[in-house]
Amino acid sequence: MTIIITGVSSGIGHALASHYLEQGHQVVGIGRRNTISHPNFVFFEKDLSKTTDFSCLTEIVSAANELILINNAGVIGQIERISEQVQSDIVSTLQVNSIAPMILSQFVLRSFPDTSPLTIVNISSGAGKRPIPGWASYCASKAALDLFSRTIYLEEKEKNRLLRVYSVAPGVVDTPMQEQIRRADPNSFSAHPSFLALKEKNELTSVEKVVEKLMALLSKPYDGEVIYSLKE
Ligand SMILES: NC(=O)c1ccc[n+]([C@@H]2O[C@H](COP(=O)([O-])OP(=O)(O)OC[C@H]3O[C@@H](n4cnc5c(N)ncnc54)[C@H](OP(=O)(O)O)[C@@H]3O)[C@@H](O)[C@H]2O)c1
Repeated sequence: MTIIITGVSSGIGHALASHYLEQGHQVVGIGRRNTISHPNFVFFEKDLSKTTDFSCLTEIVSAANELILINNAGVIGQIERISEQVQSDIVSTLQVNSIAPMILSQFVLRSFPDTSPLTIVNISSGAGKRPIPGWASYCASKAALDLFSRTIYLEEKEKNRLLRVYSVAPGVVDTPMQEQIRRADPNSFSAHPSFLALKEKNELTSVEKVVEKLMALLSKPYDGEVIYSLKE
């Protein structure tokens, strides 16, 4: 099996890549940085806020028997009310969290045979389902990812394609993204105390738990449901 994962340098993406490599699969990482070195691992350096050219994957995708694409790379962006957020940050948040997963999904749908098993996993967020002041562009980017995921599943089902699509909210996970959230200015982020409290009470989910829950989800028979939360 071949697994393409964006954002493998830290957090959930790094844990997923390590897990699949331990299981003996071929892993392709995409992102700005990488520390993984393994005979079954290939890395393509790409800044997803700046490029949507995935032609480097053509050979790998066409040679795969079974493919999983995990659109994991994400940024919270500047934690500020939208009236204060700089425009370039709004653009790059949407580019990394929404546009890159859409174009990469499109690339894989076009280049991987319709009759071979394909799974697309988009790492979404609970913030795509409820508003969190200070995170407007992040919330919007994840809501877009959810509806994109539901729509492409229906589009490909109309063509009888062998496809599973998941848009998965992982819970509040102990990664560098949460460190950034805790460093935010409380004056622009009213939920700040609750994120500090989660860390203080040791209530953040570990990346290992996220991997375990996601693997359990992917091993279940697929029933066409797209939106999942790993909190449940
Ligand atoms: N942690 C949570 O509580 C939580 C909750 C809900 C959803 N999520 C989602 O989970 C996913 C993984 O986040 P994480 O928590 O594991 O955070 P993380 O440790 O900060 O990982 C984010 C990953 O995205 C990559 N990335 C960021 N900007 C990029 C860019 N411009 N181009 C290419 N790659 C880029 C980073 O790699 P480089 O910097 O090396 O490029 C990094 O590997 C994200 O989609 C996030 O929204 C996280």
